[in-house]
Amino acid sequence: MTTWLNRVFCEDALEGIARIPDGSIDLILTDPPYNLGKDYGNASDQQTVADYLAWTEQWVDAALPKLKPNGSLYIFLTWRFSPEIFVMLKQRMTMMNEIIWDRRVPSMGGSTRSFTSVHDTVGFFVNRKDYYFDLDAVRIPYDAETKKARSRSIFVGAKWLEVGYNPKDLWSVSRLHREHSERVDHPTQKPLEIIERMVKASCPPGGTVLDLFMGSGTTAVAAQRCGRNFVGFELNPAYCEIIEARLAEPAADAKAPKRKPGRKAPALQE
Ligand SMILES: C[S@@+](CC[C@H](N)C(=O)[O-])C[C@H]1O[C@@H](n2cnc3c(N)ncnc32)[C@H](O)[C@@H]1O
Repeated sequence: MTTWLNRVFCEDALEGIARIPDGSIDLILTDPPYNLGKDYGNASDQQTVADYLAWTEQWVDAALPKLKPNGSLYIFLTWRFSPEIFVMLKQRMTMMNEIIWDRRVPSMGGSTRSFTSVHDTVGFFVNRKDYYFDLDAVRIPYDAETKKARSRSIFVGAKWLEVGYNPKDLWSVSRLHREHSERVDHPTQKPLEIIERMVKASCPPGGTVLDLFMGSGTTAVAAQRCGRNFVGFELNPAYCEIIEARLAEPAADAKAPKRKPGRKAPALQE
């Protein structure tokens, strides 16, 4: 019996990853600490640059053997460290895309000595040429106006008009505001819309997604909603409780009760 599937373990990913068999994961979709000094109830985002990069290399090397030969990896990063980490990953995998997540930050104030940063950088990497990728599952439908504008005879029956367009590599999706119904009590929760796009494109139905740094559990919720399996880790017990609550009510837009991070008893430990 599989004891690790569809579980989020409330423990250090580097310690727990040994329970996942090699070659069992279709997609590693992960959003590690960016090392920008945030407080996740632990020191993971407050490391020296040398320690952060050494730690990143350590978990990358622990995680990659878990991927199937035709598996893929998406990693959320900031421009501050994506150059070094992309080079690190390019020595191990093939880079397919740098996706820019435009967080739709409104134009107010911001930096005065540089340009205000309003995006996250996501690297999409694959193991081999025959990697799984289902573009049709994530095409964006043309709106009625565009379809109408393309109603001239040369466009009639055009397959691309019917099936929708490739989402491209610039994704403009608003970050989750406090008032957003999806929002829970985690400082860097990612929108389901972008995580679900990655899951649908790069993990086959019934396949398995691994996230080493679950946070509020967005990857697990997205996998569950899309009919995929998940497994992952989260250090902070309060976030583990949020994950458990979100997974218990996926149909209700994955909303969980708001809680302050603390040091409560682990909820999902084996
Ligand atoms: C950027 S957040 C992930 C946010 C998540 N994608 C979401 O949508 O909520 C990174 C998370 O990694 C957790 N973390 C840091 N180091 C960890 C480790 N060694 N093992 C497991 N989790 C860790 C932090 O507590 C934090 O919640």
